[in-house]
Amino acid sequence: MAGEDHSDIEVAALGEDEARAELARLATAIARANRAYHAEDAPEISDADYDALKRRNAAIEARFPALKRDDSPSEQVGAAASEGFAKVRHAVRMLSLGNAFSDHDVEDFDRSVRKYLGREEPLTYTAEPKIDGLSLSLRYEGGALVQAATRGDGAVGENVTANARTIGDIPHQLTGAPEVLEVRGEVYMSHADFSTLNTRQAEAGAKPFANPRNAAAGSLRQLDPEITRARPLKFFAYAWGALSAPLSKTQMGAIEKLESLGFSVNPLTRNCDGPAAMIAHYHSIEAQRATLGYDIDGVVYKVDELALQRRLGFRSTTPRWAIAHKFPAELAWTRLEAIDIQVGRTGALSPVARLSPVTVGGVVVSNATLHNEDYIAGRGANGEEIRGGKDIREGDWVQVYRAGDVIPKVADVDLSKRPGNAKPYAFPTTCPECGSDAVREHGDAVRRCTGGIICPAQIVEKLKHFVSRAAFDIDGLGAKQVEQFFNDGWIKEPADIFRLQERYGRGMQQLKNREGWGDKSAQKLFDAIEARRSIALSRVIFALGIRHVGEASAGLLAAHYGSWAAFEQAMTNATVGQGSEWDDLVGIDGVGAVMAASVVTAFHQAAERASIDRLVAELTIEDAAPARDIDSPVAGKTVVFTGTLEKMSRAEAKARAEAMGAKVSGSVSSKTDLVVAGPGAGSKAKKAADLGIETIDEDAWLALIGEA
Ligand code: IVH
Repeated sequence: MAGEDHSDIEVAALGEDEARAELARLATAIARANRAYHAEDAPEISDADYDALKRRNAAIEARFPALKRDDSPSEQVGAAASEGFAKVRHAVRMLSLGNAFSDHDVEDFDRSVRKYLGREEPLTYTAEPKIDGLSLSLRYEGGALVQAATRGDGAVGENVTANARTIGDIPHQLTGAPEVLEVRGEVYMSHADFSTLNTRQAEAGAKPFANPRNAAAGSLRQLDPEITRARPLKFFAYAWGALSAPLSKTQMGAIEKLESLGFSVNPLTRNCDGPAAMIAHYHSIEAQRATLGYDIDGVVYKVDELALQRRLGFRSTTPRWAIAHKFPAELAWTRLEAIDIQVGRTGALSPVARLSPVTVGGVVVSNATLHNEDYIAGRGANGEEIRGGKDIREGDWVQVYRAGDVIPKVADVDLSKRPGNAKPYAFPTTCPECGSDAVREHGDAVRRCTGGIICPAQIVEKLKHFVSRAAFDIDGLGAKQVEQFFNDGWIKEPADIFRLQERYGRGMQQLKNREGWGDKSAQKLFDAIEARRSIALSRVIFALGIRHVGEASAGLLAAHYGSWAAFEQAMTNATVGQGSEWDDLVGIDGVGAVMAASVVTAFHQAAERASIDRLVAELTIEDAAPARDIDSPVAGKTVVFTGTLEKMSRAEAKARAEAMGAKVSGSVSSKTDLVVAGPGAGSKAKKAADLGIETIDEDAWLALIGEA
């Protein structure tokens, strides 16, 4: 029975009912300890007591296997409990926006949208403030709010439903909404509420929040919804995810519909017929910025017609149909105390400015990037001026800025305040970490350490990258622990992580004796590592830390090749700059020649390749999800477009074909399944005819994909 405590009875003496009650009590106690330890960082019981609970639980289960609970603590690895909030996979990904920083960028955006659509006439857009808060997705089913989730990494967010229900702007019940409706928008805090909250924090002796955005984020992500309720949060709706019926034909119509359903929408949302009107509205919003009463950091433009938004679709992480026009960044002057050099995982020597702390846009900044040696010298490799050609010296007064989440940068130097003894900065020509030569290759702005795998900084940075959130994301193995294990010689390369238990499991005493590690935490680490032996292909590709291969590119490669075996074989057989494997690789939308060369090279460098092979031998790599719309008539087919397309641009044709599961290639070969030839098709159409490959025209293609 719940609440009964038989902890004083030995396992061997327990009757069945007592055992059942004990298993219930232990499940609760262990779950509570997990929560305190992982999610709240505030352990309530000692490691030894925790281990005793787990042991007793295991012993009772061994004696009464039939009584083992569905939520048995012996079945759980630390990870799930550590999260605090449950994870939610978004039905439609939550994306970010590309940025425009100048009028010119806005004109370029409009031009590229119209080019993609193959359209000369002007387009209508919406323009609205970009709210500086955090995005939230609200799912309504049958009109009732059933789930609220943060953006997270875009694919998986956190379930904050209970907290969202405490926000006054968020309706719990809608009338006249589609059966399924996911409303997206921004949670934010007004300036007035922010200053009241900070006064309250100060009175309570708590740390004040740096800015309204941090306050909003900290308030929404409270484990106790009653704390969120006491924080004055607001919400503007501006977009949507999954829908069972369209809201409107236009963005503006959809926003009006959301307003009629009871959501707050931003009153400065307008329709604009082209870049001139968009830029005019941008300046009008900028002029009102100081009196709005909440933070905004730019203006968002969206193509108004939803059918066009659909045609335009998405790049890997941003829509083609929208862009954020950012306000100029805030600036501040401070003293440059010193220039430090950091060595990254690809050997790049990155200069970092150590600054006298200064507040920029509500955040205290004490480090800023100085990019590379030309940037410090104020001149490029060909003598061209950078930042007015002023060099940057230790001791200088420098102007720093930060735009949104971007790392602070040094923008300018005040020569009138330069100390008399300041010397031009001599950029090191040897690696400060391993002493190897640091060289610049022709055309590269970056100086790199040539030490490769003998450079401890490169190895450590590679390992940190390997365990980072978008890569292996191993619970309990962060940058700090990796560095510790590397310094002890326990982990020298990624594969070693998966041999840790086998090598040190029996000698775990060593690990346990170390500060911060007990039986429980060591076992938890090994469990978390085990849980990651089976892992998605895209994560593995990203984790390899190959230069130029970011998270999005790794996703593109995984989606294209589908399995590790296919990817590895293609990279092994590929030659930089030629051959069918190369053509196939650079044919992937979003993969350029520089990235492609970097990947192929990584697979052909003996030491790096051997290290990759050792890692892969430890893993079970999950295949990437098969191409979407798998039952489309072109799924899995390799298609080549040639000649002039009249109904759409080449880029749109390619994106649409890929969305239907086809592979689009730039050249005709025996692997080509279908050639779509428009007027003026030349050698490719001929080659297709020679090879006997089916060739159709644009109308036939549209009919095939059901768009005629
Ligand atoms: S539209 C698919 N509209 O900015 C695009 N986003 O930098 C959906 N944001 O993650 C976003 N105000 O959190 C849109 N009026 C607005 C916005 C807005 C703020 C945020 C949002 C998004 C981020 C992208």
